[in-house]
Amino acid sequence: MSFVLFVVNNGLMIIQVFNMDRKLFALEKWLESPNWFLTFVIATAVCLLMYLLNAVLGEIRPYNWWGLTYGTLATVLMAGAGLYAVRRRMIKTALRWRLGKNQAWLQFHLYGGTLALLLTLMHSGFRVPSGALDWWLWALSIWVTASGIAGVMLQKWIPQILTSGLMTEVVYERIPELIAELRAKSEKLLQTCADPVKDFYRKNLAVALTSVQPRFIYYLDIAGGIQSRLKGLEYLRRFLPVEEKEKLDRLETYYRTKLEIDAHYTLQKTLRWWMYTHVPLSLVLLILIVFHLFAVWYY
Ligand code: HEM
Repeated sequence: MSFVLFVVNNGLMIIQVFNMDRKLFALEKWLESPNWFLTFVIATAVCLLMYLLNAVLGEIRPYNWWGLTYGTLATVLMAGAGLYAVRRRMIKTALRWRLGKNQAWLQFHLYGGTLALLLTLMHSGFRVPSGALDWWLWALSIWVTASGIAGVMLQKWIPQILTSGLMTEVVYERIPELIAELRAKSEKLLQTCADPVKDFYRKNLAVALTSVQPRFIYYLDIAGGIQSRLKGLEYLRRFLPVEEKEKLDRLETYYRTKLEIDAHYTLQKTLRWWMYTHVPLSLVLLILIVFHLFAVWYY
């Protein structure tokens, strides 16, 4: 269970998210729709039984009745998976024609797309095809499914580590603006600070507050990655009088928020870049399927 608290901290509106339940990898969090999962398991079992029957009763070939059935089903499922992108872009029409909820289309996309890979492998008899076009179809089917599964995991994992490890919530598009705001506040505060704080700021914080700094450590230990960067401030605090300590606390809040923005940027960017590994090649796959169908039909 988690709850959210809005806090105004030194003029900066931040959203604190308290996570009571840290069972990050609990199964119920991974399965949004158990019914779809169950249907997928049954459909997979039926496909494997059919393949077994095929091996016992006939030959495993892409061009016999069995092979053509696997290929046709794989094509239908892949086309259905591709239609999810179309459905997402015609929300009003989907509502008017009652084409079903986006969530159902997404579930079909995930489970139908994965089943399509199994059927593709069955179509090729679980062998690497020798022809160039068939090889690309085979390799792209594996790539698109593997990248899709990686995307599902990233979409679950990244928001969870962001909310469990950070106090701020950041809209990706607003990051440059937020950093500029933090820098302006820090520099205004600095004018009232003593020389040791000013020196420390120039040597250690000034560059960090100029632009976003993605870091690999945020994937591994988001809180530790931030904490290690704040150690210098803790050391300096010991030698400062009380009124300077208060200013340093405010400076630390700005710097911590900047580090949290860096962590958001690093992880949110991964989600955006993931799309480039999945979507363009999935479109190439759909185009190659059209060529493949044409080749089979024509020859
Ligand atoms: C032939 C099979 C597939 C095709 C043609 C395909 C194509 C696409 C396309 C075009 C998108 C972009 C949708 C949009 O934003 O408009 C997309 C998104 C996505 N795909 Fe696939 N995909 C396939 C299979 C899979 C599989 C097997 C999985 C995972 C098991 C998967 C996971 C995802 C995820 C998680 C998204 C992002 C969904 C979202 O956030 O809206 N895809 N896919």
